[in-house]
This record gives sequence, C-alpha cells and structure tokens, in this order.
Amino acid sequence: MSSVRRILVTSALPYANAALHLGHILEYTQTDIWVRFQKMRGHECYYVCADDAHGTAIMLKADEQGISPEEHIAKMRIIHEADFADFSIGVDHYHSTHSEENRIFSELIYERLTANNHIAQRNVVQSYDPQKNIFLADRYVRGACPKCQAPDQYGDNCEACGATYQANELIDAISTLTGVKPVEKESLHYFFKLPEFTEFLRNWTREGHLQDEVANKLAEWLDDGLKEWDISRDAPYFGFEIPNAPGKYFYVWLDAPIGYMASFKYLCERENINFDDFWGAQSRAELHHFIGKDIINFHALFWPAMLKSAGFRTPTQVAVHGFVTVNGKKMSKSRGTFINARCYLNHLNPEYLRYYYASKLSRSVDDIDLNLEDFLTKVNSDLVGKVVNIASRCANFVAQGNAGVLAATLPNQALWDRLSGASEGIAAHYEQRNFSRAIREVMGLADAANEYIAVSEPWKLNKDPSRQQDVVDICSLGINLFRLLMIYLKPILPVMAAASETFLNDRFDWASAQNPLLNHRIEPFQPLLKRVEQSSIDAMLTASAHEIPDKVAAIASEAGKVLPFEPPITFNDFTKIDLRVAKIIQAEAVQGADKLLRLTLDLGCDERTVFSGIKSSYDPESLKGRLTLMVANLEPRKMRFGLSEGMVLAASSEDGIYLLEPDTGAKAGLRVT
Ligand code: 2FM
Ligand code: ZN
Repeated sequence: MSSVRRILVTSALPYANAALHLGHILEYTQTDIWVRFQKMRGHECYYVCADDAHGTAIMLKADEQGISPEEHIAKMRIIHEADFADFSIGVDHYHSTHSEENRIFSELIYERLTANNHIAQRNVVQSYDPQKNIFLADRYVRGACPKCQAPDQYGDNCEACGATYQANELIDAISTLTGVKPVEKESLHYFFKLPEFTEFLRNWTREGHLQDEVANKLAEWLDDGLKEWDISRDAPYFGFEIPNAPGKYFYVWLDAPIGYMASFKYLCERENINFDDFWGAQSRAELHHFIGKDIINFHALFWPAMLKSAGFRTPTQVAVHGFVTVNGKKMSKSRGTFINARCYLNHLNPEYLRYYYASKLSRSVDDIDLNLEDFLTKVNSDLVGKVVNIASRCANFVAQGNAGVLAATLPNQALWDRLSGASEGIAAHYEQRNFSRAIREVMGLADAANEYIAVSEPWKLNKDPSRQQDVVDICSLGINLFRLLMIYLKPILPVMAAASETFLNDRFDWASAQNPLLNHRIEPFQPLLKRVEQSSIDAMLTASAHEIPDKVAAIASEAGKVLPFEPPITFNDFTKIDLRVAKIIQAEAVQGADKLLRLTLDLGCDERTVFSGIKSSYDPESLKGRLTLMVANLEPRKMRFGLSEGMVLAASSEDGIYLLEPDTGAKAGLRVT
C-alpha cells in the first residue's frame, strides 16, 4: 500500500439544545464510514466531534427548565454521546465547545485576527426586549409581513410571500420571549472583515476542496460580494466573553468550528499526538470536515478565511451532503416522521439504517430519501437475503463435513480472484464517498457468490458419500466469499462485521481481502442479522408521533388530526399516581424565569411548593384561594429557583393554559380515586 496518510476528520457539531434526529445520523454515518474505511486501510486517522454548546437558544432552553446552561449542556452531552455510541459512530473524542481548550483557541484566533487588522467595530441598531433585557435575534421577533400583511412572520423573511426585511419593519411586532413590543437599541458590535479575503476565497474554493456544485454556489456568493461578519453578541449570552470587551460575547458560530480544534487538542493530550502536525500552517496532514448544505458559508468562507488570518492550515476537504426526507417529504413531527435517534434505536437495529443511508450516499448534495418501504426491502433482500444467506447456507456443511475447518484449497480460483480483485475498485468508491457505488459493486459480487452456491448445489452433493470433499470445498469457498463481502462492508456494518470476525476467527482490515482463509478453523454459525419487520417500523412511527411537543400538537390539531393517545398503562400503574385536591395559598412570579409561578399549596395535612409553567395565562393574585389538582407523589425536582414538590394539572394549547379545578364542595387534601 502507498504511504500512511495522517487524517483528521470532523462532523458538524450538534447543538446542545435538542435530541439528535435521523438527519444528524445521516451525517455521522457518512463520516464514520469514511473514517472506518481510512482506518482499515492502515492510515492514521482521527475523528472528533463535540457539542455546540453556546448561544441564546441554549441559554433560553436552560432557563425554561430552571437549570443553569452548564447543567443543561452536561445533560445533553450525555444524551448525544449515547446516541453516537449506539449508532456505532466511532469518534475518537467527543468534546464540548464550552471547554477550556475552546476558550483558549477562540481567544488566540480572535487576538490574531485583531492583530492583523481583520476585526472592525461599529454600532448596530437591533430589536431589544425591554422586559427581558435582551437583544432579539430575528427568530425571536414576530409580526405581520410589511409586504403582504401575512400575520405571525419571523423578523427576517415572510414565509407567505418570500419578502425579506428588517425585524423593525414588521407590523405589530412582538418579542416571542415575553410578548411585549420590541424597542430599537444601539450597541457596539465586532465584525470579521471577510471581504478582504475575497481573492483568497476565489482561489481556495476552486482548488479541489469542494464538490463542483458547492464551488459553483460559492462563486455566485463571491460574485454578489461578501459582507463583514458580525461575530459579537451582547450579554446576556451563553458563550465566551470577548477579551477586553466586557459584556460582549463571541457569537456561537465564531467558536463552533474552533471546537474542532479544541476537541482534537484534548485528544492530542490524551494520546500524545502532535497538534501542530495537523493544524500548523505548513501541515502535511489532511483535514476533512463533513457538513450539511445549510452551513456551507460558515465552513467554506468564514472558516478558511479565519484560519488563514490566524496562521493555521485550511481544510483539505469540506464534504457536503443534502438533507434527509422521509417517504419523499420533509421530516414532519405531526406525521411521526421527525424521528429522533433514540426513538429509532428503541425499535430498529442501527445497522439497517447505516446500510440504507450508505446505499444512497454519493458525492451529490441532493437530499436523501429514507423511504421506509424501500428500507425494509433493501435491507432484507441485500443483507439478509444475499450476504448472510451465503454464510448460513455453507457453515453447517463445513462444521459437519470437516469439523469446522475450512478446506485447504479453493475449488474455483477464478471466482475468488474476481471478488478479491474488486478490492481496489471498491476502495476507490469509498475514498470518493461514493458509498452507493461501493454497495452496488459489493451486491453484484454477492449475486455471483450466491449463483455459484446455487449452481454447485452442495446440499445435493452432500447426499452422495463420495462427494463429501467437494461439499466442504464448495462451502469453504462460499464462506471465503462471504468473508470478502463482509470485509468490503465493514466500514458500513461494524457490528455485523465484528460478529463475522468472531464467527471466522479472524480480524478484517482492507488487505485481508488478498488472502483467503485456508485450513482455518471457524466457529459455529450464529444468526448475524435479523430481518426488518414492518411491525417494528410501524411501532417506531407511532412512538415518534407520541413524542410530539406542545407546539406540534397545535399544528396537528390545526390540520384536523386527532392527537394519538399515549400507550396504555395498567390499572396498577394508574393507582401509583397520588392525585390530590390542593388549595393555592400563595402564588408569585419567579425572578429570572419567564414562564414559572411559585405556588404554595395546602394539601390539608401538608404544605408544598410547586413551580408551575402557567405564568403566561394566570395573574398570580387571581390564583390565591383557588382549588386545583396536583400529583402529590411526584419525586421532588431540584430547579434553579428551589425545590419543586409536585405538579399541578393543567391542559394546554396554543391559545392558553387551563388549570384543572374540582367541583364545588371539594376540600384540600381529598384524594382523587
Ligand atoms: O448547524 C448546526 O447544527 C451547528 N451546530 C453546526 C456547527 S458545526 C461547527 F462549525 F461547529
Ligand atoms: Zn409577506
């Protein structure tokens, strides 16, 4: 093999404010397959990722839950890492952008940009929420479109007529955080002087680091003219404060890609790798970023320009993929097709999806459709019907006919040569990220192997005692052909490949395809992959529809759909809930929490404090003295504002929140039975 390459690979860092969904998994699968392939080829390849932990959305999400942003991102990181592990996404390290390594690199890069006179400062007028005392990004301002008057549009563009505008042009604008009318406020912002890199970027985008269609899109943007990039945000903001700029923070997108460096730095310390070999301006190592088509500008304009100014190397390749659609449509929560990674894992084997995605992935940035009917057919017919079938048909004959030892010679050298000789062609497809071509080729080889077994009919020969050696020879070749297929599929199906390695007493790297296993003991065959069942797909879709959050519930009911019920519980389950009539004796707003009221509840024999998210519909004064229902035996929950010792019951829709109340005559403390 040619010389060992040194390769660093990244996937886009997921935001630490939501669960991963099957769109994320497409990208991680694509990256992971490429990385596993490089490692099998013997290259020194590292794969790092991290949570993208900064920004207003994450700060507000933590707020909503009454916990600190640090607590929130710690929780999300555990959830994300578990999803990565369970989909066999083999990152060498998973970090966080809210880390010391990232702070150090962000400050260093900013200082170098400043020293190179690539940072500008000027005042900016922006919408501001005077109640929450926070500047409002466009997505937090809504109002009627100034062009077509369509109600409830975001602050930057109208979904009804497509017009673009400034948030302050909206008619009757409100802050979505508090419902109050935003005011205009000026503040100092810091900008990265991107236009100064126009010529550099014109060249860089045409030097083979990008797919042609991506380079063409960028050429259009470059022709339109680049603008300076606003890299600062005002407090309150969850992020890194800009050095010598109190109250100003790096915009989340400034420190997000720097998170690639931070994550790798952590790995370098752990594994004793030389960081500068990979990131120095003269680095001979390769740097590959895998991203979705929505974040091309950040990775192919801002990022190379920043690296250039700061004296680091620029990416070897930015590999761009399209979005995932499900059954031909955008993923939709109300259809149950906005499928979270965990929901999929609860019902289906991750290797099915890895295979299906791989069978669709190429260098194109076109969207990739997860057609669930096709998914079932393809996995069952390719993996179970073609690949596993070879092993399951041959293994017993070798076990019985030769005590589990493969024959010493190959009865059909030409067939072995054909499958073994396909190795470099398939490798070239992997290298080019043409996984769909690689799979097509492997399945062609699987057909040839199956045909050989079918024509040789070892099950018939086995009835003739004089042909026993032929049966062992044929089936030993069959097992060797199965092994070749699994070597070629190992980057895509690591779990099935590991089970095959155990079965064959072997360990596959790419070069293993050059040598057959002869005179080699194998283990008894165990089923390697079960068929996909339609019932599992249905169960996943139903469960996914149940994960509907409030907002989506509203969309579903608007569309005239009845919301699905939760799965049934037993009567015994129901009796575990201790529901009581409670009297609200005190109700007050909670400082720092927009949605919460602190309620003091009289339960007859006990008093409880409960934090309840009903502030938007109730004036605290009006609640005093009212009876309501509460879950009295809910485990107390520690919130940022104190301990919440139960939960009051309310129904909710987009129109409001409706606290439940017992009929007249009920008394505090009564148990609901
Ligand atoms: O679009 C996103 O989900 C971002 N969190 C991706 C960041 S990629 C990198 F720059 F950190
Ligand atoms: Zn409009």
